[in-house]
Amino acid sequence: MPQTIKSAKQISRSPHETILFAQKFAKNLKPGSIISLEGNLGSGKTTFIKGIARGLGLSRKEEVKSPTFVLMHIYPTPIPLYHFDLYRLETPKELEAIGFEEFIYNPKAISCVEWGEKAENLLPETSYHVELKFVNDHTREIRIKAGKLDRTAKKG
Ligand SMILES: Nc1ncnc2c1ncn2[C@@H]1O[C@H](COP(=O)(O)OP(=O)(O)OP(=O)(O)O)[C@@H](O)[C@H]1O
Ligand SMILES: [Mg+2]
Repeated sequence: MPQTIKSAKQISRSPHETILFAQKFAKNLKPGSIISLEGNLGSGKTTFIKGIARGLGLSRKEEVKSPTFVLMHIYPTPIPLYHFDLYRLETPKELEAIGFEEFIYNPKAISCVEWGEKAENLLPETSYHVELKFVNDHTREIRIKAGKLDRTAKKG
């Protein structure tokens, strides 16, 4: 993968492959980077973030799992990694309550947002979008795009 990617597409045939791909992608990230992850339940968003966390130097002893009940985890990587999961988000007010924008706009941290489409209007144009799609039980199609997604084109 080139140093700063604009887009990439990959077929992953196992969770391990997803982790390795995400680990490589993490080399593109800088303090201030924001990554929105989109895809159905179980498509591999958390698995992908696990790879990002490893790529950013998270120790193998630290566990990466979806912060479903608390909305956010912070991992003690050299560049702090914020992991949001907006699956249970009911109103944008909850994002205000946790200071979502203050976190994601922290220029010293990297933010990963599962179900990022739920906070789309708060994400800057420079965000990465990672889309995960089921192909079958063990196979996922992963697309990465820097910048805004064209939602209308996706519906066809
Ligand atoms: N190629 C693959 N890449 C990623 N995960 C895979 C792959 N093949 C199978 N899996 C399985 O799919 C599941 C992905 O779970 P994961 O928690 O990462 O998904 P998620 O998108 O975060 O789900 P949720 O919406 O519930 O947060 C795991 O059980 C994993 O073992
Ligand atoms: Mg998850």
